[in-house]
Amino acid sequence: MSDWVSAVYLVTAISFIVSLKLMNSPRTARLGNGLAALGMGAAIVVTFLLPGFNAANLIWILVALLIGTVIGFVSARQVQMTAMPQMVALFNGLGGGAVALVATIEFMRASKHPFGSILTIVLSTLIGALSFAGSMIAYGKLQELIPGRSIGYPGQKPMNLVLLASAIALTFFVIGTGGTNGAFVAILIVSLLLGVLAVLPIGGADMPVVISLLNSFTGVAAGLAGFVLNNTALLIGGGLVGASGLILTLQMCKAMNRSLESVLFGALGGNSHVAAGQASLSQGNIRSYSIEDAAIVFASASSVIIVPGYGMAVAQAQHAVKDLANKLTEMGVDVKYAIHPVAGRMPGHMNVLLAEADVPYDQLFDLDEINSSFPQTDVALVIGANDVTNPAARYDKNSPIYGMPILDVDKAKTCMVSKRSMSPGYAGVDNELYTMPNTVMLFGDAKVTVSKLTAALSDF
Ligand code: TAP
Repeated sequence: MSDWVSAVYLVTAISFIVSLKLMNSPRTARLGNGLAALGMGAAIVVTFLLPGFNAANLIWILVALLIGTVIGFVSARQVQMTAMPQMVALFNGLGGGAVALVATIEFMRASKHPFGSILTIVLSTLIGALSFAGSMIAYGKLQELIPGRSIGYPGQKPMNLVLLASAIALTFFVIGTGGTNGAFVAILIVSLLLGVLAVLPIGGADMPVVISLLNSFTGVAAGLAGFVLNNTALLIGGGLVGASGLILTLQMCKAMNRSLESVLFGALGGNSHVAAGQASLSQGNIRSYSIEDAAIVFASASSVIIVPGYGMAVAQAQHAVKDLANKLTEMGVDVKYAIHPVAGRMPGHMNVLLAEADVPYDQLFDLDEINSSFPQTDVALVIGANDVTNPAARYDKNSPIYGMPILDVDKAKTCMVSKRSMSPGYAGVDNELYTMPNTVMLFGDAKVTVSKLTAALSDF
């Protein structure tokens, strides 16, 4: 590899690392994304200039690049925020599939491979194909092309173990013998099957965690492909995706107080508890306010904490929420936003939505920063959040959300909840918050409710 191509790859690797750092904060995330894209663009361009590059293929590569760029650009611009997890699953799956294809072609290029080369070829095929198949199932579930619930059958776990053991045995066989076409195809098939069968039993609701894990797998597979192709940029980029995907997976599990094992094997279905949950709340204890009554409470408040959740994303209420916050601030009310780490359906979901509405970053507070403020707060306004406010997480060992840290909205002087019905959230369990004496419900779509509330406050 020429020195200056290596130098560009080094700059690319640095741009990836700096961009990951920039993505730590919503303030700098956009810049980080742009920097990583620039670095990737530079790496692609100099790859064409590598010694030994076959210029006869250039036209095919450019056509493929153009098709991929157009599809990526259009779908990224059009995707709804609520559909982001499935888009990530789809793109991630295609990445894993591309790695498996590259490794397959490298395998076919020679009849005999040295040990180091066959090891990386086989592992990138195995992990890439598994990630491809698993991500496609995750995509299908989230896009509701197949049922989102856990899909199981008797003997599923032993079957998956057998497949995993076969994949490992075949890997050893191919590495040990230098590889036969039949054994290599068997690895491909077993990996694809394993990807499908391992993800099918996972409830659609746990899919964001699984997607993050599969994303990490794709990164590892790409890093291995970097070894196969002797390409430093791919190696470092893949390694970074693998490591950051794994860290994100573990952080999501920690924020939900779930072990990775329980996500992968516990089959916590999103809907399994719904029916039982809905029946058990005593409707008699629920207080519902009209918009005018709610406006009176806000007009006499001096501090408000807004707690957004998945329902704000569904209602696309972020701009209306910002308008309400502006109105309250004009009225002299101290307004803050409390952001739970797993509110919504993907990491940073609330931050992205509120950033889109230009909510100042200094008004956003993480769970640890804000929880001690609730007891001194006049109104906690919960907008389409449910599980992340459920007090059962503190004490009910039978609850699927037991142990998940929650936002202490029940400790505010008044807690107002905007949602459409008494339906549960993602975990499918009742929320006793709604029957507490200091809680009032504002039933209706969040965007409509919040807009009406802002309008009603004009009369004060
Ligand atoms: P959820 O518990 O899912 O509750 C969302 C609530 O929004 C629902 O109860 C729903 O009630 C309400 N809603 C839906 N559409 C609405 C609309 N148009 N207007 C008003 N309300 C609406 O949300 P959450 O509190 O944000 O919790 C997130 C959950 O997702 C957690 O359990 C978390 O573990 C899980 N999860 C999160 C992630 C990440 S990384 N964020 C990943 C995987 C899982 P109605 O139908 O009655 O309106």
